[in-house]
Amino acid sequence: MTADNEVRERVAAAARVVVLAGAGMSAESGVPTFRDAHTGLWERFRAEDLATPEAWQQQPDVVWAWYLWRAGLVRAAQPHAGHRALASLARRVPLQLVTQNVDDLHERAGSTVTAHLHGSLFAFRCDTCSAPAPVPALLPEPVASLPPPRCPRGDGLVRPDVVWFGEALPHEAWRASSDAVAALRPGDVMLVVGTSGLVVPAADLPVAARRRGATVVEVNPHETAVSDVADVVLRGTAAELLPLLVP
Ligand code: OAD
Repeated sequence: MTADNEVRERVAAAARVVVLAGAGMSAESGVPTFRDAHTGLWERFRAEDLATPEAWQQQPDVVWAWYLWRAGLVRAAQPHAGHRALASLARRVPLQLVTQNVDDLHERAGSTVTAHLHGSLFAFRCDTCSAPAPVPALLPEPVASLPPPRCPRGDGLVRPDVVWFGEALPHEAWRASSDAVAALRPGDVMLVVGTSGLVVPAADLPVAARRRGATVVEVNPHETAVSDVADVVLRGTAAELLPLLVP
């Protein structure tokens, strides 16, 4: 029996499935992964240097333009067969979808996302009073720098409602993700798709799932920090492999 057939049978027999998605889930929609080299305007920047409170303090105009560029990329992207496969799977088995991604491709494929652990490109708030702010008009063309709007309530700046390095995860998102994994039992399945498994606490979820006796399956073309935790490793891409796992 091939590994993907084995996983499809395990998914069919599972009482519940939890999915942990990373940036590789969006790669085949044309959205660069977090650690892909940047191109064009952003070639000289590293995501890890821009997605930080320090970058926001020092150069909010650059960080703001970068997020609007990323939001524009996602708006131009389409969900792929892997996104649609997870939406289809959720119609067959109780499925909780936890993502580290800030895009909305799962939702646009018809999935309900249990938790966006690192926030969303399409949510904005004041960096001082945290009041929600409206989604700004996206840019027709990428620009290297653009002043962020001011908060209407005071002297704060409107920032993306995403988690930057060193910031805490949204409490509700982490609670929902932890509860989803805590409900796993032997015979259940966790699919870990397109993540390097380098960032905690998200990377702790597959370890916790394995402790609950669930079968942990990695879907990734490359070896990662998750590979040693996984019971089954499917070396391939999300768009190729996820449709094969739907009973
Ligand atoms: P990474 O860029 O670290 O890893 C992407 C993973 O996707 C890699 O393991 C690739 O091998 C894999 N991959 C690439 N193409 C794929 C495909 N077509 N199908 C399946 N897998 C593919 O992105 P993440 O692991 O998501 O956090 O990064 C986790 C977090 O690190 C991000 O959410 C971000 C960053 O710090 C914050 O911004 C707080």
